[in-house]
Amino acid sequence: MDSQFPPPAPADPHGPPPPLTERHFSLGDRRVRVLLGHDCLDDVAQVLTALDADRFVFVTDDTVQGVVASKLAGVVEQTAPALLLSHPPGEAHKNLATLSRFIDLALDFKVTRRSVVVAVGGGIPGNVAGLLAGLLFRGIRLVHVPTTVIAACDSVISAKQAVNTAHAKNTVGLYHPPELIVVDFGVVAMGSPRDLRSGTCETVKNALAIEPGQIPTLRRLLRPRADYTPADLEEIFELSLAVKGRLLLEDPHEKYSGVLLEYGHTVGHALELASAAPGSRAVPVKHGEAVALGMAVAADVAHRLGALGADAVATHEELIERVGVCRCLTAGLDTETVMHHIGFDNKRGYEAHTSSDVPMVLLGALGVPLGLGQHYLTPVPRREVRAAVHELLRRGRECGGDHDPGHDAHD
Ligand SMILES: NC(=O)c1ccc[n+]([C@@H]2O[C@H](COP(=O)([O-])OP(=O)(O)OC[C@H]3O[C@@H](n4cnc5c(N)ncnc54)[C@H](O)[C@@H]3O)[C@@H](O)[C@H]2O)c1
Ligand SMILES: [Zn+2]
Repeated sequence: MDSQFPPPAPADPHGPPPPLTERHFSLGDRRVRVLLGHDCLDDVAQVLTALDADRFVFVTDDTVQGVVASKLAGVVEQTAPALLLSHPPGEAHKNLATLSRFIDLALDFKVTRRSVVVAVGGGIPGNVAGLLAGLLFRGIRLVHVPTTVIAACDSVISAKQAVNTAHAKNTVGLYHPPELIVVDFGVVAMGSPRDLRSGTCETVKNALAIEPGQIPTLRRLLRPRADYTPADLEEIFELSLAVKGRLLLEDPHEKYSGVLLEYGHTVGHALELASAAPGSRAVPVKHGEAVALGMAVAADVAHRLGALGADAVATHEELIERVGVCRCLTAGLDTETVMHHIGFDNKRGYEAHTSSDVPMVLLGALGVPLGLGQHYLTPVPRREVRAAVHELLRRGRECGGDHDPGHDAHD
């Protein structure tokens, strides 16, 4: 955690509750209802009680529990029994041990097919809850109340649910679509600037790789300091929903055109893993920050291969700067360690390739993917990827972290 929650703003006892805005998207034959509001936890509780569940199982982490989840569970409990399951924050707890403990506790609590699992928190409790709901009685209702930008704009707009194993991230999972998503942007805005920035990078990715028509809106919204208001975050959410909603309509399992959402992730995952590895001298790079840097490398690779023009590369540079991610986040990393992690990318296996190739999502223009076959993956010779990673790290060292005060890309 980078910051503590600030105290919640006092509610105006005389004002009406702000109305919730309704949106929808489709996951296969499931139409998912999305409700959006600001400082609307009481409305969220009302929406939950209207689900006519016989029991509620809330899944959260120990940070979010005290501020949001226990309040929601307390209100909902007035209409149906509610169980609050919480795990310590962090990827280390998104695993089968946590899931198995939660399954036993939920069954002890006598959940039935009419019960509802409610995820309250970031992407980690969201994925644990998703898998729990997907496994109990082969699938019971799942509601997401996301509290981070990554969860609101990315992980909940999906049917993918998975936990980590000792082997790798997200290796054990299934598809289980949510019934309902309720977002309180007042809560989401409480995240640290670095977490808000990291989440926003995925929206930048969607615009560059899939929907460049969103770039002018992003130019207006993005701020390197990530001092976003709840209203800004709602706009950022709407941009993400427009893109992910369209892709999921044609590809609910994110296996075909959905692979475009992996733009920047091949090198991004490697930067995340290399920076967080035991003994690393680097500061752990957050997921969205890593994706932004991974997009800079993907644009450089496509340019080196003669596929992507200089203007499109410049637009990448501009948006990555506006979102506030700097190459000097890679300080302490070396090219060979990053290349080692790239060798384990989870897009390997989608298509046949040789060990000297790296399958990557690359663009031929903004919003126009290159790619052979149906997966939009281009096999790139490792030497080209190595040259672009080397250049990323070289430019990171050149910067040396010398930013104006208040630009907290490094906090
Ligand atoms: N399709 C998918 O299923 C999908 C897509 C994208 C990401 N993910 C998963 O999501 C996870 C990352 O999500 P994340 O970054 O939300 O992780 P997270 O759940 O760990 O949340 C990050 C941190 O923010 C804290 N937090 C949560 N809400 C807060 C708030 N309102 N204010 C202040 N702090 C708050 C949490 O306690 C935690 O420490 C990864 O495990 C990733 O694999 C899944
Ligand atoms: Zn991502």
